[in-house]
Amino acid sequence: MSLSTALEAIVAEAPGADGHRHIMRLAVNAAAAARNYPQPWHVELPVDTAERVTKLLTDLGDLATWGAPELGSLHEQLLAAEDRSASGSWYTPPELAQPLTRAALSEVTDLYLEDNPGDVLAVTVLDPAVGGGVFLVAAARLLAAAYTALLYGTNRPAPLTVQAVMPDVLKSCVYGIDTDPVAVDLAKSACWLETSGLTPIGWLDDNIIVGNALAGDLPPALTARLNSTGPLAIVGNPPYKDKAKGAAPWIEARRPKPGHRRTADELHRPSLDEFRIPGHGRTDGLMSNLYIYFWRWALWRAFETRLATASVAFITPSPWLTSPTFDGMRAFIRQSADRGAIINLTPEGKAPPGPTRLFPGVTLPLCAAVFTRCRGPQRQITAEVKHATVTGTRDEKFRQIEQLLSPAGQ
Ligand SMILES: C[S@@+](CC[C@H](N)C(=O)[O-])C[C@H]1O[C@@H](n2cnc3c(N)ncnc32)[C@H](O)[C@@H]1O
Repeated sequence: MSLSTALEAIVAEAPGADGHRHIMRLAVNAAAAARNYPQPWHVELPVDTAERVTKLLTDLGDLATWGAPELGSLHEQLLAAEDRSASGSWYTPPELAQPLTRAALSEVTDLYLEDNPGDVLAVTVLDPAVGGGVFLVAAARLLAAAYTALLYGTNRPAPLTVQAVMPDVLKSCVYGIDTDPVAVDLAKSACWLETSGLTPIGWLDDNIIVGNALAGDLPPALTARLNSTGPLAIVGNPPYKDKAKGAAPWIEARRPKPGHRRTADELHRPSLDEFRIPGHGRTDGLMSNLYIYFWRWALWRAFETRLATASVAFITPSPWLTSPTFDGMRAFIRQSADRGAIINLTPEGKAPPGPTRLFPGVTLPLCAAVFTRCRGPQRQITAEVKHATVTGTRDEKFRQIEQLLSPAGQ
């Protein structure tokens, strides 16, 4: 049976949003069973349906190796199978999520220095559009390795040692938000698989939540933590959707003009005004893309609400790098951060040939960018930004990204 026929058969067994959610929970249970872990989710599907779907899932591959990328990809493909015209949520391949997360983390904390292990637990990683949790899993693995290295003085901790600290690392360090409840289930499941099933599935209920990042929603466990002085890394691949005017009123609203009364909320919120160039009102329509709103939100959260060291590392469409519409955005980012690195992921331009695409279904040109601020706001200093481009096939690009973002390459 071809992949698309198998997926259509799976969707037909349990249609609708609720069916989709329970199929994904069943997939997590099947992945857990294949590794001899307990079954984390209660699944509301008739027993014979569950058996048929499990058989179809088993035909898709070795479920014992499934984690965030495979579960995310299944969710993405089931969404597409439900509605072939839907644009889908493009989940990031681990070959891209891992080096970008490592770069964001090594920017805010030197993971390789002898230091207090507790410092590792003070690091906060937030993916505001978490999807299947691929960035959070990458962060948790890096932080767990750094934590055990500092605890036990070895750079090669045994896998069992890393596993033993994973629940604490996850609970302290990783946070996520997504509007899609199935994505939130998956992100929690992917993190749970990292604990080898040692925690209850609700372990991260206060860390990873269903919510709208652009409306200011935050995981309850994160709210107090943001007042701490620990470093913060905001990572991810936020959604791209143009003509999104009205999707983020909190961010799109103009700031009151000088001399007008300002409420606390008007001051303590992000505003696209900082990306706008006076007299260029016509460009507002072009800025109405969800990923631009996420950039504005992340810069505010990382650099304007806190003094501690922070980084923002996003994969997004690349027009903001060169288009005059985004002159104000680029200037604002360079004023907010101390330094930055940008990788052009699609030098081929729009609709790149299939073999060169890092996201097989995405035809937009993309970039990866990491911006860091270490020393509190210093508006008079403009960030130095390094630029690089990756070329060739998907695998060749992954290799170049790995090198460019390695501690030695940065
Ligand atoms: C492009 S996917 C990326 C997911 C994940 N970060 C990854 O890279 O694999 C974008 C995700 O953003 C979510 N999303 C869309 N609008 C959102 C919002 N306003 N707040 C939080 N999540 C949102 C979608 O449900 C989707 O899961």
